[in-house]
Amino acid sequence: MALIIKHSEFLTSLADPRRLPLPELPEVAFVGRSNVGKSSLINLLLGRKALAKVSGKPGKTRLVNYFTVNRELYFVDLPGYGWARTSRELRAEWAGMIGGYLTSPRRRLVVQLTDARHLLTRLDRQSVEWLCYHMIPTVVALTKMDKLSKAEQEKVLLSARRQLKPYPVKQVLGCSTKTRRGRDDLLGFLGAWLRDK
Ligand code: GTP
Ligand code: MG
Repeated sequence: MALIIKHSEFLTSLADPRRLPLPELPEVAFVGRSNVGKSSLINLLLGRKALAKVSGKPGKTRLVNYFTVNRELYFVDLPGYGWARTSRELRAEWAGMIGGYLTSPRRRLVVQLTDARHLLTRLDRQSVEWLCYHMIPTVVALTKMDKLSKAEQEKVLLSARRQLKPYPVKQVLGCSTKTRRGRDDLLGFLGAWLRDK
């Protein structure tokens, strides 16, 4: 059964989540380039207007933000990558807060976001590789599908699935906060993942 959102609230913002022991609940973390729509997708899933802070300017989310959902899991809004211009800089970013968070031993699923208009950029692919290398179950969400025509949307989904063939990602789906596309599919997937464990 799909995850039904009954209750959601902001819990805390942390610079280093390894420092503060939180009650052990499964975590769904949203990963992707700055401005790709991580905070927006969290609000869409939770059916909230502005629980996670959204901004037109990249770099809005700077800390690891925890939201409690139904008191049974956390949604974790992460800062975006993409400040880094080179793979070495990206590695440095991930060696810091984001990587530190993602390699801390928790029961965790990652939603990797990529902008549907750009398919997977080099940094997105490196991010997916990193997640797969660390054996973190990952779902890929193509965001801002509403910015493409209907025909383009389906083409982009097919191309992304082809691009991701080499990686053991669980699912690739299209999302839009404007049309609400992807919400039911993602909540369905999360429900199954929660039950599975
Ligand atoms: P950082 O916190 O900076 O890493 O960004 P973020 O990934 O959390 O992005 P955020 O949710 O703040 O959204 C960035 C911008 O994209 C905002 O102006 C959103 O309104 C817009 N946006 C997000 N999702 C969608 C979408 O599905 N469609 C459209 N058209 N715009 C979107
Ligand atoms: Mg954000």
